[in-house]
Amino acid sequence: MAYYYDEPSHTFSEYLLVPGYSSAECIPSNVSLKTPLVKFKKGEEPALSLNIPLVSAVMQAVSDDRMAVALAKEGGVSFIYGSQSIESQAAMVRRVKNYKAGFVTSDSNLSANDTLADVLALKEKTGHSTMAVTEDGTPNGKLIGIVTGRDYRISRMSRDEKVVDFMTPFDRLITAPKDVTLKEANDIIWDHKLNALPIVDENQRLLYFVFRKDYESKKNNPNELLDEKKRYIVGAGINTRDYAERVPALVEAGVDILCIDSSEGYSEWQRMTLAWIREHYGDRVKVGAGNVVDGEGFRFLAEAGADFVKIGIGGGSICITRETKGIGRGQATATIDVAKERDKYFEETGIYVPICSDGGIVYDYHMTLALAMGSDFIMLGRYFSRFDESPTNKVMVNGQYMKEYWGEGSARARNWQRYDLGGDKKLSFVEGVDSYVPYAGSLKDNVALSLSKMKHTMCNCGALTIKELQKKAKITLVSATSIVEGGAHDVLLKDSTPNQNQ
Ligand code: IMP
Repeated sequence: MAYYYDEPSHTFSEYLLVPGYSSAECIPSNVSLKTPLVKFKKGEEPALSLNIPLVSAVMQAVSDDRMAVALAKEGGVSFIYGSQSIESQAAMVRRVKNYKAGFVTSDSNLSANDTLADVLALKEKTGHSTMAVTEDGTPNGKLIGIVTGRDYRISRMSRDEKVVDFMTPFDRLITAPKDVTLKEANDIIWDHKLNALPIVDENQRLLYFVFRKDYESKKNNPNELLDEKKRYIVGAGINTRDYAERVPALVEAGVDILCIDSSEGYSEWQRMTLAWIREHYGDRVKVGAGNVVDGEGFRFLAEAGADFVKIGIGGGSICITRETKGIGRGQATATIDVAKERDKYFEETGIYVPICSDGGIVYDYHMTLALAMGSDFIMLGRYFSRFDESPTNKVMVNGQYMKEYWGEGSARARNWQRYDLGGDKKLSFVEGVDSYVPYAGSLKDNVALSLSKMKHTMCNCGALTIKELQKKAKITLVSATSIVEGGAHDVLLKDSTPNQNQ
């Protein structure tokens, strides 16, 4: 006879935290959100930790190199999507590892024959007013000048005027050589009252710009997550099919952590993938596995050698796995169950394998609940897809700015490896949708707000660390009626703008 669970499975929205005693020291500025990313032995420190408990989803619509840099600046990690060629994924990893904080590859580039109309169109597209003019119009071509807002007057000039006739030419520019440090570049910027300093090589090829505003903002990233060579930490998704080629390419590119990305992780395919990595790299290459939704699945992957285990089937915002295949489990129940097994495994073996709740975060408080329920960190897709740094288009829909967001199992992504159970090399049926999400601005501002709420809630629970939250949290299921009570009710709202919590 089939196994029946005694309890229904629940989602985060069905729970609340009940406050505990807050001492006078329990204030948000004293809270540390540092959390382990990979397994470690009792009494030892993990080889990799996060400074904030957030990682971005292994998805085309979420995690590319730009997202990875933005999130590492705040203290989290992106897992660059694996549903692309090995070469392009490795190139993304390489770009993150080669990224010099404060040194920006020019994203607005012109050639001499472009016109003022092209300048205006480019400004509209990128939102940037400093543009490089290079011989071939590429970001690293030979620099022949730059155009900024100071070089043209829209009201006095024809749209056909050629860039070469109004740009500031190279011989009038102040530039710096490729080995300049950020500090030196900043001094040049200040001495000459510049907004942007082009960095060029010995052949006058443009390498980067250093912007005045970026130097300022670098000082504002106290949590940034760096390796021992001061490069940003970056992750990448892999699958259970082409790992023998993909893993070496990613390792060669400098990846810090891998994650087997699959809709269902309790499988022989994952065990084989982990075994291959251990055989070829021992513990030098760190790799997470998943997704699972119960203790049994966790133990299988922990014993197979996973560095962390990811939880969640069917809870993602773009996910229709439950409707399509009838498998899955409420995300809160799955997290609680896996956390119990993680603790049991730790007691038995002395090895702590971090767990990551993946998908289904709607409100910011869901993040805090997931941590309180035992998750060490959280993976989010929809949340990050709404920001400037996600790789997707920003479009206007019904008068509101939206970003595109699609599932890896959608007809758009066609990531068959994520759903493959050893069958055809194609997606037999879709398990995800293609959608829009409300545009929300910069990652930095949004993450700061979400984490501020998280720290306040932790203080309400008397906790200054995530571990303390997991020990002290008092969690209650709420009735359907009390969920209604939790929102604004029985009043006529004056302001109909959407709830900023979403
Ligand atoms: P979200 O944060 O609720 O948007 O969920 C993101 C998570 O959904 C990802 O990290 C994946 O685990 C999962 N996911 C991504 N694409 C699909 C899909 O097409 N179908 C089902 N689940 C998906």
